[in-house]
Amino acid sequence: MNMWWFITTLAITAFICNSPAYAYDNNPLQDICVAVNDSQAAVFVNGKICKDPKFATANDFFASGLNVSGIAAPGAGGAAKFVDVNNMPGLNTLGISIGRVDLEPQRLVPFHTHPRATELITVLDGILYAGFLVPDPANFFKSRLFSKILYPGDVFVFPIGLIHFLYNVGHKKATCLFYFNSQNPGLILIPNSIFASNPPVPDDVLAKGFQLNMTEIAQLRKKFS
Ligand SMILES: *[C@@H]1O[C@H](CO)[C@@H](O)[C@H](O)[C@H]1NC(C)=O
Ligand SMILES: *[C@@H]1O[C@H](CO)[C@@H](O)[C@H](O)[C@H]1NC(C)=O
Ligand SMILES: *[C@@H]1O[C@H](CO)[C@@H](O)[C@H](O)[C@H]1NC(C)=O
Repeated sequence: MNMWWFITTLAITAFICNSPAYAYDNNPLQDICVAVNDSQAAVFVNGKICKDPKFATANDFFASGLNVSGIAAPGAGGAAKFVDVNNMPGLNTLGISIGRVDLEPQRLVPFHTHPRATELITVLDGILYAGFLVPDPANFFKSRLFSKILYPGDVFVFPIGLIHFLYNVGHKKATCLFYFNSQNPGLILIPNSIFASNPPVPDDVLAKGFQLNMTEIAQLRKKFS
């Protein structure tokens, strides 16, 4: 019995580790692989195909604009700007990207996760309260909060996949740079993902999931959609 358990676990682990659905950014198999759009192409590397290297230019490996804030969505109180494989094609297969967040005082970058990347942040200006949640291995119904107040020059890391947030606790705008060990880290905003899905998650599922009543679910849905 124990032997079967061991073999089955091993087989499942081997399958998961080899499954493309779990693929990370790979080590590149060539010097450069500049992303190019071509719907006719059948071969993809991490979601993007490569430009013929002889047509690559310095601009494929260049981006500008992190000297200024992104454009904040109305009411958001902050803006994020990403430089990833989608706007800097030379990042393709390199497993790295960068971006910038600007946040007004008392505003929050709400609970979110990047399913494919660890995120390293450094504060350039202002004061941020940053935290991430780690499931408690001893009790799946609880988690541990790891958090820090960050000042200019401070560095903090959000380990891959974990839910995290940033809060401007200062009296002026805060700016930080963030780095991902993925060219395409992904972003799941937890509240929006749950309360603003299309099609919507049925109310009774949400009500049971969060132990709230239908009125409260309707209010939450309204806030996030
Ligand atoms: C590739 O396609 C995306 C979306 O389909 C578009 O935003 C981007 O500008 C395109 N890039 C190039 C180099 O054509
Ligand atoms: C930001 O950088 C761009 C590109 O180098 C430049 O055109 C722009 O003037 C800069 N803006 C500011 C506010 O420094
Ligand atoms: C839903 O819960 C709120 C807050 O607990 C309560 O005030 C309200 O009466 C409840 N509504 C219904 C329809 O049960």
